[in-house]
Amino acid sequence: MTGSALRVGIHDLAFATAHQVLDLGALAEHNGVDANKYYIGIGQTEMSVPAADEDIVTMGAQAAAQILERHGADGIRTLLFATESGIDQSKSAGVFVHSLLGMGENCRVVELKQACYSATAALQFALGIVARDPREKVLVIASDVARYALDSSGEPTQGAAAVAFLVTADPALVEIEPVTGLYTDDIADFWRPNYLSTALVDGKFSLAAYLRSLEGAWSEYRDRGGVGFDQIDRFCYHQPFTKMAVKAHDRLVTIAGAGLDREARRAQLDASLEMNRRTGNSYTASIYVGLLSLLEHDDADLAGRRIGFFSYGSGSVSEFFTGVVQPGYRAVLRVDADARALDDRAPIGFPRYRRLHQDVDAVAGEDYATAVETPGPFRFAGVSEHVRRYERTTHA
Ligand code: HMG
Repeated sequence: MTGSALRVGIHDLAFATAHQVLDLGALAEHNGVDANKYYIGIGQTEMSVPAADEDIVTMGAQAAAQILERHGADGIRTLLFATESGIDQSKSAGVFVHSLLGMGENCRVVELKQACYSATAALQFALGIVARDPREKVLVIASDVARYALDSSGEPTQGAAAVAFLVTADPALVEIEPVTGLYTDDIADFWRPNYLSTALVDGKFSLAAYLRSLEGAWSEYRDRGGVGFDQIDRFCYHQPFTKMAVKAHDRLVTIAGAGLDREARRAQLDASLEMNRRTGNSYTASIYVGLLSLLEHDDADLAGRRIGFFSYGSGSVSEFFTGVVQPGYRAVLRVDADARALDDRAPIGFPRYRRLHQDVDAVAGEDYATAVETPGPFRFAGVSEHVRRYERTTHA
């Protein structure tokens, strides 16, 4: 089902994460709980932790650089930056990335926010731009650092990662189909007031709200002519922690009346959880990290197979939609580089994790320079005269 002659979708998808990692066993030890509560109960083994000179811009630029290296910047006239860990109340983080990557002046750059959902809004807006003029190419970046207060119940569900994807006509990776189901509900399940650097959350309520939104979005998707559950081969959910996707898929199987046993349900889902289990929550990027994980870790040939996506952003806005994996998709993936991005992170101990967490708030309003720490190609150098300074590193 393509719905129109013009095929539009994701042509390329690249990943980056922070360069340090904390094993959740260390957090479990500090909290005096069994590590399996995190490893199995919430389905997270590790979380990426940004160094002092890493943030949403450096991760986003590192992801996007891989796209430009392959395709060049010519023809990219729109850059959409989705995040909920914005670094300025006015200027888009995308403008910093645009500059770091040396992109051309004839480009619109804007930041989008609606909790974890906004990368999907960016995707839908990008599809519209390309559908209107198939010569257009849109670069979408989703980048977030998930932060909760120290010693709060959300702490094991932190993390950091970015994706960048190119939306074009005749996509090489995943064609996005036109039918979508939407669901918006004004609730306080998770939010971050302007005066806080960490999110507030009503944990159990947020889980229930996520599942209720899934039902609402799926229902509208079906009402608008979306395909039946049995015509979808794989599923990819927003993953605040991987067990949430498992709960969501179980719920969808039930409401769709699909009657699948545990093994069959997990076969539709499990490959999408591999990378997120190691990055932790990456808010806007999470569902697209899940897509990359699915494409890279599913042993089956997914060409021609349909993926169902459920994107959820607290507050809340959500969307169910589908895409079809394109023939030759494996040639587009960067499997080794993505594995290295996870494997090569520097393990840090619990005291350093705590210190970095506290340091984020320590210097508000003053000039400062960050220590040179990241082994990545871009770094946040510090603040002078209230302006954030970014630079390429010698690894670039
Ligand atoms: P908690 O209360 O500490 O954990 O917080 P729990 O007691 O519910 O235990 C978690 C699971 O571990 C349970 O499994 C336990 O049974 C199990 P379940 O019953 O749920 O299947 N467990 C064990 N398993 C194996 N061995 C053991 C063991 N002990 C316990 N020894 C909570 C958990 C997720 C609530 C907390 O971490 C939190 O508040 N996280 C943040 C909120 C969140 O992620 N919400 C998700 C939905 S909202 C969303 O997705 C949007 C978001 O990404 C933000 C945005 O949109 O911008 C968050």
